[in-house]
Amino acid sequence: MADGDYGAYNIEDLRQMAKKKLPRGVFEYIDRGAEDEIALRHNREVYRSLKIRNRVLVDVSKRSTTTRIFGREIAMPYGISPTASAGLMSEGGEVGLARAAAQMGVPCTAATNSLTSVEELYEAGDGNIWFQLYMWKDLGLREAFVERIKAVGIETLLVTVDGSVGANREHDRKNGFSMPLKYTPTLIAQVLANPGWCLRVLAPQFLKRGVFKKANYPPELASRLTDKYVDHEHTKSDNQCWDDIKRIRDMWPGNLLVKGLQSWEDAVIAADIGLQGVVLSNHGGRYLDSAPAPIQIIPEVRAAVGDRLKIIVDSGARRGSDIIKALALGADMVMSGRPTLYGSAAAGEAGSYRALEIFQTEMDRVMAQLGLNSVDEIGPHIFWNPPDWAPPSRV
Ligand code: FNR
Ligand code: LAC
Repeated sequence: MADGDYGAYNIEDLRQMAKKKLPRGVFEYIDRGAEDEIALRHNREVYRSLKIRNRVLVDVSKRSTTTRIFGREIAMPYGISPTASAGLMSEGGEVGLARAAAQMGVPCTAATNSLTSVEELYEAGDGNIWFQLYMWKDLGLREAFVERIKAVGIETLLVTVDGSVGANREHDRKNGFSMPLKYTPTLIAQVLANPGWCLRVLAPQFLKRGVFKKANYPPELASRLTDKYVDHEHTKSDNQCWDDIKRIRDMWPGNLLVKGLQSWEDAVIAADIGLQGVVLSNHGGRYLDSAPAPIQIIPEVRAAVGDRLKIIVDSGARRGSDIIKALALGADMVMSGRPTLYGSAAAGEAGSYRALEIFQTEMDRVMAQLGLNSVDEIGPHIFWNPPDWAPPSRV
């Protein structure tokens, strides 16, 4: 990166920096998982358990991590998952994510619940912005919002479908942390104990942009993150079904994906109703705690849908080698949300870029070690210990 590595040599370094810089409740909100955090830990354990073999004496001097998705070239098969809360990491954090992604040449997914408007992020991201939709309960408001996203120029829309009843995150309750933010005594005490964060994030945010707002929300849903009546009830609902997705399909000419799947049966439905892709995800271990690691289900989803869908996978990737492992199992692309949030907390836009740079340089190095020149050459033959759920090796 232009001005140094910030003393961060891997994503874990950025995580440790974020831990020091954020109030405890804010750090745990981004870092921790639901219930017993089984899924959170398992996501990493599966990646770590997969061993890949080097190949020697292959000329890899012309290798490249670039690939294409939805007709666009990207610098590596990686994109930023929607996270909505980068504005709590650093002042203007979401704009920083969008800019960092544009600089690297990978997509950044802006979120419905973002603290910055989709219009502002689209501009900051140089057009390379995907959008994540939470389906608001009110159909009229929901459809008007989809029209607005279309008018911005967004080409790729991800509808998140795994959060209809909210999550059981006990640490957030202990910390008095909630989204929308409520200034509970515990949270206020944690914020006051971290004057650095108040000076770096809270004060400039307030001076430049006012109170934290869900910037995409229409007045009807109210927008102040601290408003008491903007709760889960208004923004998500437990009666959503595939018909809701079909309605959006009818309105949305661009790429349409659903995010949060763990079952091949659901992927088949997605393909049958004409979606372009799925994001296999357990929301980073933030919802269903006994969910499989999403990379474990790539092969069965690929077997069920063939090439009808792009398969994107998130939850747990922290190394360039993880991107390679997921592709070897049949994914087209990997995403994650926390690494660039850690980077944002550590050093704003430059820290988010640093996270992307770590992924890219690690991926490039491991491709060379495996004797691979292009992303298309990645396949299950790289595994030394292919698990019984891996696809058969073609080589
Ligand atoms: C998320 N995620 C998420 N997903 C989504 O569809 N809409 C959202 O608003 C959010 N918000 C959000 C906030 C925070 C703080 C985190 C950490 C995550 C989930 C996100 O898109 C992605 O699925 C996970 O981050 C994947 O896990 P890892 O790889 O980041 O650990
Ligand atoms: C979360 C929601 C916002 O994971 O998706 O916190």
